[in-house]
Amino acid sequence: MNHDIADPSLAEAGALRIEWAEGRMPVLASIRERFEKESPLQGLRIAACLHVTSETANLMTTLRAGGAEAMLCASNPLSTQDDVAAALVADGIAVFAVRGEDNDSYYSHLREVLDADPQITMDDGADLVTMVLKERPDQRLVGSTEETTTGVIRLRAMEADGVIRFPVIAVNDSATKHLFDNRHGTGQSAMDGIIRSTNLLIAGKTVVVVGFGDCGAGVAARADGLGAKVVVVEVDAVRALSAAMEGYTVATADEAARIGDIFITLTGNLRVLRGEHFELMKDGVVLANAGHFDVELDLGYLADHSVGKRRIRHELDEWTMKDGRRIHVVAEGRLVNLGAAEGHPAEVMDMSFANQALAAEWLAKDGADLENKVLRLPDSIDQEVAAIALEAIGGGLEQLTPEQEEYLSSWEFGT
Ligand SMILES: NC(=O)c1ccc[n+]([C@@H]2O[C@H](COP(=O)([O-])OP(=O)(O)OC[C@H]3O[C@@H](n4cnc5c(N)ncnc54)[C@H](O)[C@@H]3O)[C@@H](O)[C@H]2O)c1
Repeated sequence: MNHDIADPSLAEAGALRIEWAEGRMPVLASIRERFEKESPLQGLRIAACLHVTSETANLMTTLRAGGAEAMLCASNPLSTQDDVAAALVADGIAVFAVRGEDNDSYYSHLREVLDADPQITMDDGADLVTMVLKERPDQRLVGSTEETTTGVIRLRAMEADGVIRFPVIAVNDSATKHLFDNRHGTGQSAMDGIIRSTNLLIAGKTVVVVGFGDCGAGVAARADGLGAKVVVVEVDAVRALSAAMEGYTVATADEAARIGDIFITLTGNLRVLRGEHFELMKDGVVLANAGHFDVELDLGYLADHSVGKRRIRHELDEWTMKDGRRIHVVAEGRLVNLGAAEGHPAEVMDMSFANQALAAEWLAKDGADLENKVLRLPDSIDQEVAAIALEAIGGGLEQLTPEQEEYLSSWEFGT
């Protein structure tokens, strides 16, 4: 365990923020209450590699309420909230993470949670599963869960290569995860990160959104709502068309590079903005990434072709190019919403982590009978999670009449 973060005043601050998040996570609370009665995770060790935030803390205590020994390491070196880590340690949950840790300690923390021989792992980006498959041929898991799009893409590549030797639940593929967390969570918190770091006025600026998937669509909507002129860069024609029909300008990366003031990448792909684009950009632009890995902005090019770099504000680096133009990068090109702000609001993590807790319960109950594949949670869980979340925000849900149910399941002529 990382004792250097077990600081009482930090822990106190973290505990208050965990309590604040808890009050906004009604779905997880209802699962925790049931877990306390039924102990479905009794005797299991669960190792989670997730962003160490106040919302994740509530997932960890829910797993413990279900009877598990839960332990946590970070899924990104820059996303750990040290006060939350300290509060969890004070509460008896092992945490292996410190904000700003270097790559070596990041991976050694992953190794430490795997050394505890967990039966279930939870990933945000597939790092634990990758480590088990690459380095630990003898490690036996009941199963694993995956939080994010990039992790699911990596897992499907592993599945195609035939190397997965336990079931993996793609939590990201649940509707109550990606339609809310990726869209509304990333939409709001990525803009929050850019604003906290720069304090720029968004109204009137040209905001370039690279990648119009669930996350990109959310960011575009929030930037639009703040008064930006939104330009979308996409490689998928259907998604590009959908952005155009939302009223956004759709452009190539070259075209967008010339006109943008703020650029946000959310593709899950590498070097989507690189030297050839940086050379076209105006003086003073701001670049941020909200895709999972810090590979979307080619910072190596900036390092090689600039004459200076200085940190000028919270999580904001200014690179000066040889021709004098300044290019600003938020949170070192890592997840901007976690590096420069606090990550997703509790209301959306409530649904994501409700799905995580239910996925762990599914693995505990049926893991031995599940196929060694990437699996989705049943649709009925989406309905259950959404119904509780809807009730919490005060929406009424209409019910089908028996006649309508019969009509929808019949195939007679419609007249
Ligand atoms: N910041 C966060 O907290 C957070 C939350 C959820 C997901 N994510 C991550 O964000 C990334 C995007 O997730 P998503 O769910 O929106 O994925 P998605 O697959 O729905 O969307 C990605 C989009 O990027 C496009 N794209 C790929 N390469 C491109 C390129 N070179 N130029 C332009 N567009 C390109 C794809 O066509 C696709 O439409 C992933 O890495 C995911 O893991 C981050």
